Amino acid sequence: MTSEKRRPIIAGNWKMNTTPEEGAALAESVLNQSMQVPDLDMVVCPPFTGLHAVAERLTGSSVSLGAQDMHWESDGAYTGAISAKMLLTLGCRHVILGHSERRTIFGESDDHVNRKIHQALTTGLLPIVCVGESLDERESRRTEQVVTVQIRAALSGISEGQMEGLVLAYEPIWAIGTGRVATPEQANSVHHHIRSLVEAQFGAHVSSAIRIQYGGSVKPDNAHELLSQPDIDGALIGGASLEADSFIAIAQAAVS
Ligand code: PGA
Repeated sequence: MTSEKRRPIIAGNWKMNTTPEEGAALAESVLNQSMQVPDLDMVVCPPFTGLHAVAERLTGSSVSLGAQDMHWESDGAYTGAISAKMLLTLGCRHVILGHSERRTIFGESDDHVNRKIHQALTTGLLPIVCVGESLDERESRRTEQVVTVQIRAALSGISEGQMEGLVLAYEPIWAIGTGRVATPEQANSVHHHIRSLVEAQFGAHVSSAIRIQYGGSVKPDNAHELLSQPDIDGALIGGASLEADSFIAIAQAAVS
C-alpha cells in the first residue's frame, strides 16, 4: 500500500506557547501561506486559551483547528478539565490524545487515552492518537512491544466505522524537542508495524486508509526524507510549528 492513496496531514502542536493574540497572529500567517500547499490537510493546535481567537481567524478556511487534550467524561465535577463538547463548540475538528508529555508529565495511562478516544469520537471530534517509546525502551529493543501495547489499548472497543478520520501519530519520546530525529527507515519500520496492528484489528480496508503521522524534531530540512517514506503520511510538529515559515515548509515537503 503506498502513501499516494492517502492525503497527507500536517498538524502543529503549539504546546504551552502563545497568548491568544500571538496565536491569532500565527494562525493568520499560516493561513496566508497555506494556499501554497493545497493538497494536504493542515491542522493547528493552540493551547485552550487560544482556541477562540484562532478559530475566528480560521473560520471558513481550509486550515482546521485542533486541541491538545480533553477529559474523558462529558461534563461534571472535574476542576480544570475541558470536555470534548466544549472543544467542538469552539470550532475544533481534531484533538491530540495520548501525547507523550501528557503520559509522562501528567501520568496519563493507556486506559485514560482509550476513554478519551471514545469520548472524542462519540462527540464528533477526530482524535490524533500519539504513541511512542522512550530511549530506554528503544535501546533495549522493546519499541515494537511498547507501541503494540499502546495501540491495542488506545483502540480497544473502537469500531471500524469510528476509525474513519482518526489519525495515529508515532512520536518516539527520545526525538521530541531534542533535535534527535528518527532515521526515515527507523520511523517507517514502526509506522509499518502500526499499520499491521490496525490491519489485524480492523482489516486491510482500514489499515490502507489510516493516516499515520511521524512526530519528533521534524524540521524543514529533514521533513522530505521522512515524509517520502511509504508508511509516513504526515507530521505532528512541535517547535517548528511556532513559525509559519517552517510549518509551511514542512507542509510543502509533504507534498513534494
Ligand atoms: P517537536 O515536538 O517537533 O518539538 O519535537 C513534536 C511533538 O511533541 O508533537
